[in-house]
Amino acid sequence: MSTPKVAPAPASAPDAPFDVERIRADFPILRQQVHGKPLVYLDSANTAQKPQAVIDAESRVYREIYANVHRGVYDLSMKAEKAFEGARHTVQRFLNAPEAREIVFLRGTTEAINLVAHTFGRQRVKPGDEILISGLEHHSNIVPWQLLCEQTGGVLKVAPITDEGEIRLDELERLLSPRTRLVSVGHVSNALGTVNPVRRIVEMAHAQGVPVLVDGAQGVPHLPVDVQALGCDFYAFSGHKAFGPSGIGALWGRASLLEAMPPFHGGGDMILSVTFEKTTYNVIPYKFEAGTPNIAGTIALGAALEYLAGIGMDRIAAYEHELLAYAHDALREVPGLRFIGTAREKAGVVSFVLEGVHPHDMGTVLDYEGVAIRTGHHCAQPVMERFRVPATARASLALYNTRGEVDALVAGLHKVREMFA
Ligand code: ALA
Repeated sequence: MSTPKVAPAPASAPDAPFDVERIRADFPILRQQVHGKPLVYLDSANTAQKPQAVIDAESRVYREIYANVHRGVYDLSMKAEKAFEGARHTVQRFLNAPEAREIVFLRGTTEAINLVAHTFGRQRVKPGDEILISGLEHHSNIVPWQLLCEQTGGVLKVAPITDEGEIRLDELERLLSPRTRLVSVGHVSNALGTVNPVRRIVEMAHAQGVPVLVDGAQGVPHLPVDVQALGCDFYAFSGHKAFGPSGIGALWGRASLLEAMPPFHGGGDMILSVTFEKTTYNVIPYKFEAGTPNIAGTIALGAALEYLAGIGMDRIAAYEHELLAYAHDALREVPGLRFIGTAREKAGVVSFVLEGVHPHDMGTVLDYEGVAIRTGHHCAQPVMERFRVPATARASLALYNTRGEVDALVAGLHKVREMFA
């Protein structure tokens, strides 16, 4: 029996035209009907659907090579470990990270940010020290820093955003102070779709000697990510938004920073030796990976990134850019519709409100048309507050969405208007 192949065949050759129908065929869930209508899945920013390659990679682990990793001297365990560590190399290549040992597997972006807050943060933040974020952040890039500040006497500073939903870089620069210990910003806003000028933010922060964490949960599924080109110090992302399984994600951190950080969770695999008097810790990344990991999920995450790389992130970004422009133009024709978030650079997301209709009602009516969107605050309540809305409707696009699906959304919204007129 052979080690499962975790790198599936690319969905299309790198120089072939982007064939969305061929890509859709890779996603079995998209073939279904909902309320008698074809499913139009426009909620990929919430969680993305999985290609057959990912489903197969995960099930192959359980069928063929499942055993624990880093603990066995027998054949099966070594096969599992080879595939598991192979996924680490896949993540390294996908992010263009300098070294595979800089990739820490965790449950997702939320756990990755919490790791940095608990380790780097608790080590470095003293009373009066500051963490700088933006007004565009997801709760997972706000609350861990609030907890850290409560525990350390630190202060959370927030760079405001413009009416378009862009970070005020002048304010961000002004808020950088000798007390700033970390800047933490999203790559792409989950609520509005704004693509932040991460490279510029890193330059500003580094000019003051301040490291930068990037919440890449919405970056990895839509844009080519190169942590060396971005220049950031930490980059966190979730597998489930990148067409991989839920409950698995990764943190990339500079080796020098990770090595200086204390462990996060204590337990098996993160130690070199344990006595009741003293424990010494393992090298990175294992120092941060206590306990049996999500073995099959990690290998399937590798398969998801191989799948994306096989298509090409540049091509995915270009296709989605064109589809997003089409969606903006089509939605603009719906009377009473107002976009929330009109940044110059956007990816994957259209957030909007419809005059006189609560977003939840919109979502319910659209569901009967087969159209799945997210309605609510999108785990970004401060963004809703900034735009003085309790909630928005959010259509989020991915590589498998089509113009026809955008048209179905628009047709559904006309029905919503008729019902609530
Ligand atoms: N962060 C997820 C979303 O944007 C939950 O919907």
